[in-house]
Amino acid sequence: MQAFSRSITTSQQVPHERLQEVVTKHLKSIYKKPIQEHNRKAFKSFLEHIEVINPAELILDSCCGTGFSTWQIAQQHPDAYVVGIDQSEKRLEKENRTGQSVPENSLFLRANCEDFWRLCVAEGIVFKKHFILYPNPYPKPSHLTRRWHTHPVFPYLKNLSQQIELRTNWRLYAEEFTQAWQLLTGQNLPIKAIAAGHPITLFERKYIASGQQVWGVSSDELFVP
Ligand SMILES: C[S@@+](CC[C@H](N)C(=O)[O-])C[C@H]1O[C@@H](n2cnc3c(N)ncnc32)[C@H](O)[C@@H]1O
Repeated sequence: MQAFSRSITTSQQVPHERLQEVVTKHLKSIYKKPIQEHNRKAFKSFLEHIEVINPAELILDSCCGTGFSTWQIAQQHPDAYVVGIDQSEKRLEKENRTGQSVPENSLFLRANCEDFWRLCVAEGIVFKKHFILYPNPYPKPSHLTRRWHTHPVFPYLKNLSQQIELRTNWRLYAEEFTQAWQLLTGQNLPIKAIAAGHPITLFERKYIASGQQVWGVSSDELFVP
């Protein structure tokens, strides 16, 4: 991965003027997009795993990419079972090319978050903590509805986990997320600058190496490996 990483360029300087309208609309409706078969299969294999393992705690690392963060979280939480999901087979495969063995308390699944999250909520599965690390922030104002907090699946996040942690290199993304989270749960989450010595993803490491500040939003203390 390149050491230099360009900072966000956008004409959006404040939370989007339509943020509240879009989030409120989703809070009042039900996301009905049919669940794809491959996501059902991934969910089934997840259920089979946890039935055998019966873990004390479950942690979810959504959009885990190559799974660097999933490994770190698993190593830091030996009593928890950490599930990394990503839609990209290619990225997940990279995780297997590192030569190290995958932590025993982790599982990688190829699935789309919007389906996997809904299946978990329908099944009553509640993760101890949910990480959303470095979502592509979609910084153009016209990209508003591509962001997680303006996605119709966003309301499901409330019942998916007890705690949530988001990280991004675009402070405004964190700000919008906290505003949407407040609308969803009534909780006011703090935005914190991530200390340079504690990257938990390859993206974070890249941004820090390029001198960019990265931001974290968490309903608990920020995770420090
Ligand atoms: C910017 S990368 C971040 C990867 C990782 N969290 C990290 O920080 O290194 C975004 C990842 O999200 C995945 N992704 C995007 N949309 C997704 C979706 N709807 N469901 C599952 N994965 C998704 C992409 O495949 C990609 O690996």
